[in-house]
Amino acid sequence: MADWHNAPVPTFWPSLGPASARLVIVGLAPGLKGANRTGRPFTGDYAGDLLYETLLEFRFATGTYQADPADGLQLHDSMITNAVRCVPPENKPTPAEIAQCRPFLEATIAAMPNIRAVLVLGRIAHESTLRALGKKLSAHPFAHGARHEIKPGVALFDSYHCSRYNTNTGRLTPAMFKSVFASIRDELATD
Ligand code: URA
Repeated sequence: MADWHNAPVPTFWPSLGPASARLVIVGLAPGLKGANRTGRPFTGDYAGDLLYETLLEFRFATGTYQADPADGLQLHDSMITNAVRCVPPENKPTPAEIAQCRPFLEATIAAMPNIRAVLVLGRIAHESTLRALGKKLSAHPFAHGARHEIKPGVALFDSYHCSRYNTNTGRLTPAMFKSVFASIRDELATD
């Protein structure tokens, strides 16, 4: 494990910097042998296979995803972060960890002057992101495929997390995931 990242996993920024991104994707937390090992969100994690395939298909990324931060994949108009920056014990972040990491999420979103869309993967990311944005959870219940108006010109989209469990059980199919990205593309196509 000597060459493992084993530290907070930073946001994956687009090659042209945060001002070039209108979409931010908020995942849950690094996987032990994935992002915690490689140091790039979703990279080497099972969930990254569907996420990066979809980003490439919807032109939010270019290159080839090879589960390695040196694969040269670049993000365009998008960035990827996590609600929790360190790998949580037993893969289940505690409320205290989620709260401790929230200032990083707030700072990530605040660094995006041209933000138009937020995609949250799963309920924990949904709730932490709403709190980071100063929004009431009761006004924005989580539902796969839902679109929530955060403020004029900024919408939050919910998806089930693209985890191994959700995809293996059929709770989230690739078609369901891609349909959320199609909605985001439509959103970004409007002025
Ligand atoms: N890897 C990440 O970086 N985030 C997730 O939510 C899952 C796997």
